[in-house]
Order: sequence, then C-alpha cells, then structure tokens
Amino acid sequence: MLLNGLQRLEYRGYDSAGLVVSNGEEKFKLMRSVGKVSNLTDKVKQHIPENTTFNMGIAHTRRATHGGITEMNTHPHYDTNQNFFLVHNGIIENYYKLRNELADKGYTFYGQTDSEIIANLLEDNRNGNFLETVQKVLKKIKWAYALLIVSKYAPGEIIGAKIWSPLTFAYNDKDECFFASDQQALAGYADKLIHLDDGDLIHLRDKSYQIISNGVPTEKEPEIVDQDVLEASKGSYKHFMIKEMYEQANIIRRIFKGRVDFKNNFLNAEAFHGMKDEKFKKIVFVGCGTSYNAWSLGTYRMENLAWLDASCEIASEYEYRNIKVTDDTLFVFISQSGETADSISVLKMIKQKGWHTFGIVNVVGSTISRLTDYGLFTRAWAEIWVASTKAFTAQITSILLLALYLGQKRWLSKAHYDKVIIELSKVPIMIEDILADSDNIRELAQEIAEYKNFFYLGRHYQLPIAREWSLKLKEITYLHSESYPTGELKHGPLALIEWSIPSVLLAPHDLMFEKNLSSIQEIKARNGKVIAITDKEVEWADHKIQIPSTIDEIYPFLTTVATQLLAYHVADILEKDIDKPRNLAKSVTVK
Ligand code: F6R
Repeated sequence: MLLNGLQRLEYRGYDSAGLVVSNGEEKFKLMRSVGKVSNLTDKVKQHIPENTTFNMGIAHTRRATHGGITEMNTHPHYDTNQNFFLVHNGIIENYYKLRNELADKGYTFYGQTDSEIIANLLEDNRNGNFLETVQKVLKKIKWAYALLIVSKYAPGEIIGAKIWSPLTFAYNDKDECFFASDQQALAGYADKLIHLDDGDLIHLRDKSYQIISNGVPTEKEPEIVDQDVLEASKGSYKHFMIKEMYEQANIIRRIFKGRVDFKNNFLNAEAFHGMKDEKFKKIVFVGCGTSYNAWSLGTYRMENLAWLDASCEIASEYEYRNIKVTDDTLFVFISQSGETADSISVLKMIKQKGWHTFGIVNVVGSTISRLTDYGLFTRAWAEIWVASTKAFTAQITSILLLALYLGQKRWLSKAHYDKVIIELSKVPIMIEDILADSDNIRELAQEIAEYKNFFYLGRHYQLPIAREWSLKLKEITYLHSESYPTGELKHGPLALIEWSIPSVLLAPHDLMFEKNLSSIQEIKARNGKVIAITDKEVEWADHKIQIPSTIDEIYPFLTTVATQLLAYHVADILEKDIDKPRNLAKSVTVK
C-alpha cells in the first residue's frame, strides 16, 4: 500500500524515497533509497520477504530543499537513538537555531535536512506520553509542515499534524486508516476523507482517531469521495502528458455540463450567483507558473469582454508589494493543485484584510478551494504529468466563462456574447482535429529537435500562450526558449535572430494577423527560421502548423494544443523523461 501510494505521489518529488513499517510492536523496519520509487520497491523486494505482514507504516517521496539528494537526507528521519521516525513536507524555518541548540546538548546529525531536527527534538522532549511530546515539539518548530510521526514508545500509533502543507486523513469500512498529502494516493483504499486545516493534529491509535485543533479536541465530518475522480492511469499512452492532452476535448465538454446551455446561450453556475459581481470594478488574478499564464490571458478576457480593470500578479512577488486595493476588487486565485504555498500565502493575507476572493481550482477539497469565498472547479480531474497541459486548458475555459458571465451583466453586446458562445461550443471538435494532425507535427518536431534555442512569439491573446509553451518546452526538453511579445522583437531581441534560433510564431487570423506577417518578414530579413502556427497561408514561413479557423477569443485553445504537441514530440524525440522532468515537482508546497 505504501509503495503504491508513493508511486501515485511520485509527481510531487522523485529525488529519493523511503518508508518505515512495523507490525505494531516496538520493532521498526526502515528502508530508503535514492532515485525513483521503483528503486525503493526493488530494495523492499530484496530485503523484506513477500509474506511478511505489517500493520502500520509511513512513507515519503522527496523533492530536495535542504540537503543534497542522498540516502541520508531521505525520509523517514529518526533521532540519534532511533526512538522516533517521521516524514515531513514543508520547511522548518527556525531549523538552524534548533539544530545548534540540539548540538549543544550533544545530539548528532547524519544528514543536512531540516526534518531530521524534529526527530531529535522529539527525543529531547520525551516525557512518556507520545501525544504530549509531539504537542510540545510542534510549539517549538516554525512551520511549514505536514508531519507523520511514529515512535517505539507508542507502537501502533501515528500522529499527523499540519500547518501550511497539505494533509488529508482517510478511512474505509475495513477499519483501515490513511494519511496522504494528496487524496490521489488514496484511490481504491479509502473513500471517507477529512481534509485537515492548519493547526490540526490527528492521533491515530487502536483503530480510532482523535482530532485536536489548535490544542482543542474537535470533530470533523468526513467527505465521501468519488473513486473515479481519484483514479488515474496512463492506459495505452506512452506518457501521461500525451494522454492528458488527448483528454482535453472531453474535459471542456465536462466543464460545459450544467454551466453552458448552448440552445439558449445561457451561462449558469452556482459561483456566479453567489459572487454578487455588481460590486466589483477590478479583478486581480494571482497565481504561479502555468496558472499565472492562464491568468495573464484572463486579464485580456476581462478587459475585452467584461470591461473590467484587470491585472495578474505572480504570487511569490505580490505578497511583498505595497499595492493599494479598494473594496470593489475581486481577487481571483487560480491553481491546479490548490496547494501552491506562494498562492496560499497571498490568499491568507487577502482574507485577513477582508477582501473578496474567488478560486479557479482543479483539486476538490484543496486548501485554495476551501479558503476562497466563491469558485469554479476546473473539472480536469487528476493531472499527473508534472508540467501542466489539461489543467491549463481547463483554466482558460473556466476563465472565459467567468469573463462572459461578467460581460453579459455589463456592456458586452448580445451579438458578441452569442458569437463567442457559439464558437466555444465547437472547441472540443477543433481540438480533436489538431490532435489528429499529431503525426505531421511530429515530422516537424523531428526537424527542429536538433536546435538548442527557440523564440516563442505572440501578441495580444496569443502572448500568454507563447509564454506558456516556452515554459513547457523548457520543462520537458531542457532546451532554452524565450517568449516575447512579437512587437518587442525590434526593441532588442532581434539581435539574436539567426538560422540556428527558430521562432515559433503564433499567428492565427486574428486582430494581430497583419502585424504578425510583418514580424515574419522582419525575422526572415535577418536569416531567421520561422515556424508559424496559423489557419492562413503564410508564404514566408519556413514551416507551418495548420489550425482550424475561428474567432479571436477562441484561437488560444487551438494554438495551445498545437504548441503542446510540438513540445511533446520534441521531448519524445530527444528521449527525455517527459512525465518526470528533472528538478521539478508537481505541487510546490514550499515558499
Ligand atoms: C508548469 C506547472 C507549474 C504550475 C505552478 C502552479 O507546467 O505546472 O508552473 O502551474 O507550480 O501550480 P498550481 O497550478 O498547482 O498552483
């Protein structure tokens, strides 16, 4: 069970993995190994006979923050006397001070992680009562953490606790209990879930559990979770990435369900009713990475369709800026995981000030979905692949619905609104058309895979897409690429243009088409190589990826899928580990 769970959570980190198991008696068996979970699985098979039974254990797959990728820095960690074992997500901010204090008392350390400190602190504060010892230590460490702790002094018991980092508790009808940092690990094992809040601790013993919230015993109602939502498998596809790309058309159909009535061009969602949008004059989008790029497109949508002032902010920067906010501002948080620490940090700050918040989140029950006042779930279901594809498409669909809803309440003309809705209904089919062209795009990828540097260029609605796909290419191919507003080329970057740096130009037949044609000439005049993604004839381009024709608002869906395919095929041709790109993790729960 532990190894299966780790396998499912491997997208969270895959530098090293480990586990500790016990049969409910004092003896604990610890196994750790560097690299992917499969290395740990091999080690377990080698060292633990198949019919051995254990009735409890904790396990972890690591993405290194403090300390290199070594077996010693792999979780579970333990104290000098091996009395306590723990796994930890997050960062202990006061760890240097605690480490020095412990060293002064004679404790020694085998690794460089902040997590190991907690194990020694537990030993140092041991008073014969497992729960009290843990509670005492939690008061000393400065979060963030999601922690699972076991002890030889309390065989058969596990304590889980969290501040900032996600932790879910779950159980089933067979008296089995589980903790996980993402509910996806629990598919097929448990269906009753309790999402823990900051300051919560769960003490599990004798098949019963007690929840203590900020020191006070409390009760929480479990949620029943749909197994289909949790289940994720690669099926016959070579990678999760390509599988998830092929899911996109159906995800959009799913987003429409109950929210868009195409017969009457009517939009409907609970969140829309709840948000009393009349009050808002300004929208501030907050997110990171791919979600930030989705926001950036959202800004254009809000300005053009909803006539609202809009800005998008990088979460890790926003918190430290001194921006003036008025009461008629709506903060919209977008996140696939709903657990990104940078975004949560801004969300908590905004909530403290009493401002209005809206979430566009994929993972149901995640922290951002629970903390925001209103929201839309993006219905992309589990996204496994580290670099986001279907979640991005689901985000830009949800944002478009929000912009249309707000627009029709303001000044968006009925004719314009109807036109967008009608074209929107065709998006799933148009996406399927582009996916059907995958072999041709692969041929082009074959030709460009030998290059080391790329430009991704776009204007207006296409600029966020250029940014997103420049990011994607970096993530999965490790090739260098830069994204620019096409109009910025002449202000400096043109100096770099030469045949060995191809430019991928997003040039659909939209408002910017003529301007893009001029840019192609500009690049060609400097002996540059151009790959145009377009629905028109572009005679000067060296290569072309054909997309269907539509209207300006809808082209971003099409250029997204075309650039996805291009990046995927280049990475596959270069034989990269597409589903687990180096140095990355799916959900970034540290700041
Ligand atoms: C890139 C990617 C990341 C995430 C970012 C925010 O492909 O997936 O850039 O978009 O870490 O994550 P979420 O959306 O979970 O808040």
